[in-house]
Amino acid sequence: MLAKLNDEQERFLAALQGVADEETLYQLQVQYVGKKGSITGLSKKLGKLTVDERKAFGAELNRVKKAVQAALEARKQELQEAARLRDLARVEDLTMPAKRSPQGSLHPIRIATRALVDTFRRMGFDLAEGPHVEHVNFNFDALNFQPDHPARDMQDTFVIDDRRGSDDLVLRTHTSPVQIRTMARLRRLGQRPPVRIIAPGTVFRCDDDATHSPMFHQIEGLFVDRGVTMADLKATMIQFTAAFFGRSLGIRLRPSYFPFVEPGAELDMQCPFCERARGTTCSVCKGTAWIELGGSGMVHPAVLEAVGIDPEEYSGWAFGFGIDRMAMLMYQIPDLRQMFDGDVRFLRGFSS
Ligand code: FA5
Repeated sequence: MLAKLNDEQERFLAALQGVADEETLYQLQVQYVGKKGSITGLSKKLGKLTVDERKAFGAELNRVKKAVQAALEARKQELQEAARLRDLARVEDLTMPAKRSPQGSLHPIRIATRALVDTFRRMGFDLAEGPHVEHVNFNFDALNFQPDHPARDMQDTFVIDDRRGSDDLVLRTHTSPVQIRTMARLRRLGQRPPVRIIAPGTVFRCDDDATHSPMFHQIEGLFVDRGVTMADLKATMIQFTAAFFGRSLGIRLRPSYFPFVEPGAELDMQCPFCERARGTTCSVCKGTAWIELGGSGMVHPAVLEAVGIDPEEYSGWAFGFGIDRMAMLMYQIPDLRQMFDGDVRFLRGFSS
């Protein structure tokens, strides 16, 4: 029994030498002096000994147990001290570059919108906004759309179901209602033209193919004052191209019809990308040398009258351009729908 006890103590001391952390130390404690430990187990054999043997062995067992506990405690102190010293010796490298957390970037439509708005604001236009859910009066009636105009058809327009059976509210189909809101506000405030605004925003139509999206973006321009003519529109657009593209580009007006302007025109700009494709057919304008920006024209007298502005005294022009197609051209994006798929791999390609 005594020999066995001494063996266990020796084995314990040898194992203790190899202990390098508190977890292993705890396991060693359990293995030798825990409830089912090998040294603890020997005390269960005391009953089989004679009184004298029990006395001698009991004393030896207590001595060994105490020695083991003391060795465990001493090793624990050593390990804790070593850990403390390691901690103190740790040097923080303050020159290490910080970990970058992933950063979002602006959507190409947002980048294009901001650039357009900034340019027009520098040219003296104020920013105006309108709601996405619009009253038919602002979206159509006040803009001189006749009640049977095809654009009012539910095939083309998202009508809001207000559960009262009325079809007065629609998702605005263009940014032109901001013209009405702006001029009507002027009247409410008892003010008179000049009005010079730029109004970007989201618009909605029942449209869906590679160049048409049910949700897209337009930017509206409106200038009303005494003696405003179509020549001002053309000059403003030439000035805009110079500010936006760094050089004046030609502007072309092609007659077109919109109920809220008279005369109305599609407005094209000379392709600013052609030079980049010198010697080859430009992939942006497809060799036509012109890029369509959108609709424009002189504000219809009926529209001015609807908002209390005397068309005999004032005149104005307006335009409405599609921002999405402009962004497609700027970034050479072949399919409009890619911009709204929400695929971050596509969006990562743009930086603001
Ligand atoms: C209008 O929306 C008129 N409000 C523009 C206007 C304003 C004319 C002021 C006169 C005076 P139009 O429906 O043509 O016009 O749309 C203008 C531009 O929006 C188009 O040239 C095109 O670039 C863009 N667009 C139209 N439908 C879509 C669509 N489904 N997806 C993407 N872009 C579109």
